[in-house]
Amino acid sequence: MTQRLKDKVALVLGAGSIGPGWGNGKATAVAYAREGARVLAVDLSLPAAEETAAIIRAEGGVCEAMQADVTVDADIARVVAHCMAWQGRIDILHNNVGMAYLGGPVEMSEETWDHSLKLNVGSLFLSCRHVLPLMEAQGSGAIVNVSSIASIRWLGTAYIGYAASKAAVNQFTQAIAMQYADKGIRANAILPGMMNTPTARASLGSTFADEADLVAKRNAACPTGAMGDAWDIAWASVFLASDQAKYITGVLLPVDGGMTCKVV
Ligand SMILES: NC(=O)c1ccc[n+]([C@@H]2O[C@H](COP(=O)([O-])OP(=O)(O)OC[C@H]3O[C@@H](n4cnc5c(N)ncnc54)[C@H](O)[C@@H]3O)[C@@H](O)[C@H]2O)c1
Repeated sequence: MTQRLKDKVALVLGAGSIGPGWGNGKATAVAYAREGARVLAVDLSLPAAEETAAIIRAEGGVCEAMQADVTVDADIARVVAHCMAWQGRIDILHNNVGMAYLGGPVEMSEETWDHSLKLNVGSLFLSCRHVLPLMEAQGSGAIVNVSSIASIRWLGTAYIGYAASKAAVNQFTQAIAMQYADKGIRANAILPGMMNTPTARASLGSTFADEADLVAKRNAACPTGAMGDAWDIAWASVFLASDQAKYITGVLLPVDGGMTCKVV
């Protein structure tokens, strides 16, 4: 590895995986560490965060695991305070948590709509309001928000709360990028396409006959003939978080195998 993140401290929110294998957050936390970052791996599930931390430490990296709910302000405050006590700085804020709940406005309950916005974009508001002042005091920082191509395209499945909240993630990212551009802080978003992760398989499972059907149909929908994987998101995140991307801010980067170029 090239140590692109040497001496950097990364706070990764949603750094676990809901099942065996690699989700976007877990792979990104590990990739950050492989490039030299010290990582605070945070997840709703402490065992999931600990699993990520154990992988990083087994590879010789530096990582601590913490439990937190990104929708709870006091949890974010606790995590940020811990990171500052542990490492004294936060160079990279990675907002990975996001979930798609099925249904359009007629099918979806108001509670699920509210929760979608709170989880997918409200969590960015909370993490940024705690981390931005620290980055401003440091005079540097990189924020990577995980959006979705569902923020800009209809992908064939109704999940209105997801589509609307991820669209909000995009403009949230660009507004932060502009407000903080002259303060050494960059903010970019990654728009994953169809990725083969445990969470994607679990959250969309009910719309397919079985897992094999899900994988076959999602593969077939991709221009490359195959879904991406969590490492595609992880390495794009490493680049955006690194100083190699020092002149890149406010970008909404699709990592989708070309899917957003496609009109069918
Ligand atoms: N997988 C895809 O196909 C795909 C496509 C487009 C966008 N995305 C985006 O990628 C991100 C997640 O990637 P993934 O699907 O691989 O999932 P993931 O495996 O990275 O899992 C996300 C983690 O977030 C944790 N989490 C859930 N709610 C939380 C909360 N309230 N507080 C703290 N942690 C919480 C879960 O426990 C899980 O470990 C999301 O933002 C998602 O919208 C994924």
